[in-house]
Amino acid sequence: MKSIMVTGGCGFIGSNFIHFLLSESGFTGQIVNVDNLTYAGNFENLEGLDEKFSGRYRFIKADICDHKAMVQVFETFEIDTICHFAAESHVDRSIIEPDAFIKTNIIGTFNLLELVRLHQDRIILFHHVSTDEVYGSLGKDGYFTEATPYDPSSPYSASKAASDHLVRAYHRTYGIPITISNCSNNYGPFQFPEKLIPLILLNALEGKPLPVYGDGKNIRDWLYVKDHCKAVWKIMRKGNRGKTYNIGGRCEMRNIDVVRKICDLLDEIEPRPGNKPRSNLIAFVKDRPGHDLRYAIDFSKLEKELGWVPDESFETGIKKTIKWYISNQKWVNRVKSGEYKSWMKQHYENI
Ligand code: NAD
Ligand code: TYD
Repeated sequence: MKSIMVTGGCGFIGSNFIHFLLSESGFTGQIVNVDNLTYAGNFENLEGLDEKFSGRYRFIKADICDHKAMVQVFETFEIDTICHFAAESHVDRSIIEPDAFIKTNIIGTFNLLELVRLHQDRIILFHHVSTDEVYGSLGKDGYFTEATPYDPSSPYSASKAASDHLVRAYHRTYGIPITISNCSNNYGPFQFPEKLIPLILLNALEGKPLPVYGDGKNIRDWLYVKDHCKAVWKIMRKGNRGKTYNIGGRCEMRNIDVVRKICDLLDEIEPRPGNKPRSNLIAFVKDRPGHDLRYAIDFSKLEKELGWVPDESFETGIKKTIKWYISNQKWVNRVKSGEYKSWMKQHYENI
């Protein structure tokens, strides 16, 4: 792999992946980050990389649904590998406005696959980043394996399921070298504060109510984002072509316990005036429609075949995450105000 196109590199996981690839992975080639900067794409996540890694890192503002633009990127930078993160990623938004999910997650992925089909001779790998939510909900027992039938509940997970099927079909029909990863819930630096952990963390710091859907007993399997990035890179390098790998944290927690843990840690790190416990801010609110009860990942295939296990526990990962958000207040303020978009325009005339 000499020239990797990373889609959605200005988002949460994509930006962590680019930092990891350039600074820690040992990869020596070039990265072209293609992102159209939706509300979730934040250019500041990658601030300074084009100077620090001059010639090895490029940002192109483009929509993955725009075939012409994608062909241009592909040809100009002689792309040989794609790592596809770009997506609309929030379940609640998909319930309110599903259109963008269908466009980006399904049509966008299809567009990239077509591009790859037309340049098949030089493609080393199309890696598709997906979610465990394609499998639907577990009851109290059991785990998602790579053989679990797809049963998505939300427009988000249904659109990701559709894209997974397309990627697999392009492998079977056209012989495109692909790998797919289905990962559980991530948390860590640069996550947009609409998802549970950053939302609770920032609300708790500001003394605002902490919304917990339903009774708070829904379970997610949490993974620190850098562990996800390491797994993706391992699969890209060593994973069997045409195959799917589940990625998880072996870290099942009820939402209410995640929220309480964040409250307790923040009370230790930054006590509130009068030492009022932040758990007093917890507010049980109306449940999400179609809310999946439990996700839990069996990643033994990835562990056995490629030797990956997560490095962080929830305890270590959440402490790093809290520290990051507290010491990056400028980022938080700008992301929340949308100010970074005007900053970007000033610095990058071509945007
Ligand atoms: P995110 O919402 O933080 O970032 C998505 C990025 O994609 C943004 O930078 C956005 O600008 C970009 N984008 C959106 N539409 C685009 C388009 N049409 N063209 C170009 N760029 C576009 O998402 P994330 O949480 O970083 O998730 C990244 C990927 O990982 C997604 O495919 C998601 O399904 C998958 N995933 C996420 C999680 C999680 O917990 N966040 C877990 C498993 C899998
Ligand atoms: P979220 O971070 O939106 O990820 P996903 O829906 O992809 O799992 O939500 C994680 C869990 O937290 C999910 O069960 C819904 C719940 N949740 C709340 O209870 N309150 C909130 O404000 C949010 C955003 C999520």
